[in-house]
Amino acid sequence: MRINKLNAGLVLFLVLVNGGLCFAQSKQSKTLRALAEKRGFYIGAAVAMTPLKKEFQYRKIVEREFNIIVAENAFKWELVQPEKSKFNFKDTDLLVKFAEANRMKLRGHTLVWHRQIPKWLVEGNFSRDETIKILKQHIQTLVGRYRGKILAWDVVNEAIDDKTGKLRTDSFWYQKLGSDYIKLAFEFASQADPAAKLYYNDYSAEGMNVKSDGVYNLLRELKSQGVPIDGIGWQMHEINGFRIEPQHSTNAKRLAALGLELSITELDIRMNLPAGAEDLRKQADSYRDVADFCLAEPSCKAILIWGITDKHSWIPKEFPKMGDALVFDTFYKPKPIYTALLESLERASNQF
Ligand code: XIL
Repeated sequence: MRINKLNAGLVLFLVLVNGGLCFAQSKQSKTLRALAEKRGFYIGAAVAMTPLKKEFQYRKIVEREFNIIVAENAFKWELVQPEKSKFNFKDTDLLVKFAEANRMKLRGHTLVWHRQIPKWLVEGNFSRDETIKILKQHIQTLVGRYRGKILAWDVVNEAIDDKTGKLRTDSFWYQKLGSDYIKLAFEFASQADPAAKLYYNDYSAEGMNVKSDGVYNLLRELKSQGVPIDGIGWQMHEINGFRIEPQHSTNAKRLAALGLELSITELDIRMNLPAGAEDLRKQADSYRDVADFCLAEPSCKAILIWGITDKHSWIPKEFPKMGDALVFDTFYKPKPIYTALLESLERASNQF
């Protein structure tokens, strides 16, 4: 009886020690975060508030795997200023504290976008001058509150029309302020936090095409006018089978020549459901391509994935019958993507 108890104690001890060692080891060298830090690189994810508050596994993965986070929704206008001049900083404060406690950087997303803006603003019948005042107050209040705490802000999101490569004319901001809103937004943000990196963020403008030409022309024009803009965000909501091609490097290089840094800001790679093992392997190759590209491109500073787990991804809501776009499955099990990203980061950190 005594021996059995002793043995049981010994087994428990060994399990604990071994588990502890494995965990310590994974903490030091074999997480995305640890490898990225070795290389001075940012690997991150968009965080949703509900699972962050309620799901232990979700929170643990964020803490362990990433050294930069962005709110999937919490910093957007409709949540931050739901009523005119009434700001709600509950979740934004919580996220900033969470990042600080875990020594993570934060991206701020987003200050000016035609979506997720409140009804009071869109339907308020404000004049041009009033709208400029509202824009200034929003940006200065939000950016000012977290001055020094946000690495980079997506100041303007998705301003270019997919087909024409010109500014979207159906956007609330364009209709109220014409093209001036872009310059104004960057100036207000820069006044509120001169040290933050100020970004223009968009989708489908990664390769060489009408839209990326439009983005390039817009940014070149802003730069030539002395508008304080530091970076370009490539969202990269892609479809399985996506591959990096020479055109991506061509585009990155012409943007870098304007003096802009690059971040992959919203990476996910979606597929038709249900997915098989071969689809998941293919998806790992797509992610690997993006990581290898960013790690090799001198201007590319960060990769942020648009979510943590397939359980909470925005994809099935936006693209019916599609999903499985993220690194962890619905049970928080790492998918083949995880190993592909580890390998890519490991190769890059060894070369460094
Ligand atoms: C999405 C969020 O993931 C959803 O939860 C929300 O309902 C709509 O917005 N481009 C962006 C992001 O810049 O803000 C979007 O996020 C995805 C597309």
